[in-house]
Amino acid sequence: MERSIARLFEPVEAGGMTFRNRFLRSATWLAGCTEVSGEVTAPLLSRYAELAAGGVGGIISGYANVSPDGRAQVRQMNVDSDERIQDVRKLADTVQSRGARLIVQIAYGGAVSNPAAVRQGSIKGPSAMEKDPVFGNRVEELGESEIERIVRDFGAAARRVKEGEADGVQLHGAHGYLLMQFLSTVFNRRTDKWGGDFDSRSAILLAVQEEVRSCVGPDFPVWWKLSVSEERDGGYTAEEGARLAERLVSAGANGIEVSGGARYVGVERMNSRLGIRAGVDEGYFAAHAALVKSRVGARAAVALVGGLKSPRTAARFLEEGVADLFSLCRPLIAESDLVNRWAEGDLRPAECISCNACFKTVQEGMIYCPVMKQLHEGAWEPLPEC
Ligand SMILES: Cc1cc2nc3c(=O)[nH]c(=O)nc-3n(C[C@H](O)[C@H](O)[C@H](O)COP(=O)(O)O)c2cc1C
Ligand code: SF4
Repeated sequence: MERSIARLFEPVEAGGMTFRNRFLRSATWLAGCTEVSGEVTAPLLSRYAELAAGGVGGIISGYANVSPDGRAQVRQMNVDSDERIQDVRKLADTVQSRGARLIVQIAYGGAVSNPAAVRQGSIKGPSAMEKDPVFGNRVEELGESEIERIVRDFGAAARRVKEGEADGVQLHGAHGYLLMQFLSTVFNRRTDKWGGDFDSRSAILLAVQEEVRSCVGPDFPVWWKLSVSEERDGGYTAEEGARLAERLVSAGANGIEVSGGARYVGVERMNSRLGIRAGVDEGYFAAHAALVKSRVGARAAVALVGGLKSPRTAARFLEEGVADLFSLCRPLIAESDLVNRWAEGDLRPAECISCNACFKTVQEGMIYCPVMKQLHEGAWEPLPEC
């Protein structure tokens, strides 16, 4: 194996922990938890076991909801009460015993929450809207005291992640959920301290991080997933997003996973893009990641996500200093053992064709790849439930 590619499969210290290689499973909601209480189920644990056994260095959990009124999706995980600490522990045991790290992503849905997800209370966001641009929800404006309560909820959720013995927590500041809604003028027209210019619209992210840090202490890894650019004409830019990333790192963040866009900006520029081809348009946020890396240097790990398909491209990005870590979502829905396959020398690109058909399988139960299932029908043996 070429030296530049072999480097990807060596242990690395990054973002406050050591990984066995440079590949991460990016946060993936698999709709595998119970509705309402958001408990982790045995089939979901089997998927995590399969993924960890498949060779990734670290797994970022699907987004876990911080508040009973913050659920964004059906069968989403919850970390909104101390009862859910045991769920984090189950995930951590499953993943860590197979040699991978577990980072739990925490989020609050806000305006673009799926109305089919059962939650307490009405759907709220930074500003009132007749119809949100994704689900058409009627959105009520969050009051100041509610914003402060949500900031505290992020802190309490991060504490639960630590008590459940995950290796780190990731704060979801991407893909159109509440914290990104504050960054965007599509959602945030507030005139108080949480609205205004980009720095004021960023204030809630810094407040959440400060609260989280005070709840988990100085040594627990705190990461972000950021839509570094809104990817919308007239929206916030990668330059602004990179400045925010730098401020978060200066205030103590250990890692930034660089994504961009959201469903509301349209299918062409959203975070999970269609029809990505290996060696052609892979790693579509690489320029944003390089910008963030140039600002944060060695102070924090930078992970690139979005359309990565081949170790050859990841190796080139590593050589060029674009990112330290490489995150995959859809390729690992399609092939949970992809990283082992590459490490063993089969360097063919991921089989995932970036069609997004996996989203639709939520109607049948837990999300899976229908393309691969059809291809390998009869030869597909998931691990037994654990
Ligand atoms: C089924 C599915 C669920 C996802 N769930 C999450 C999530 O919980 N949190 C998150 O930040 N991103 C989520 N994403 C976005 C991915 O993490 C990733 O940023 C995006 O798909 C681009 O990476 P890829 O080309 O490797 O799939 C999800 C994507 C898919 C397809
Ligand atoms: S359905 Fe399968 S091939 Fe299509 S994007 Fe999802 S994982 Fe990839």
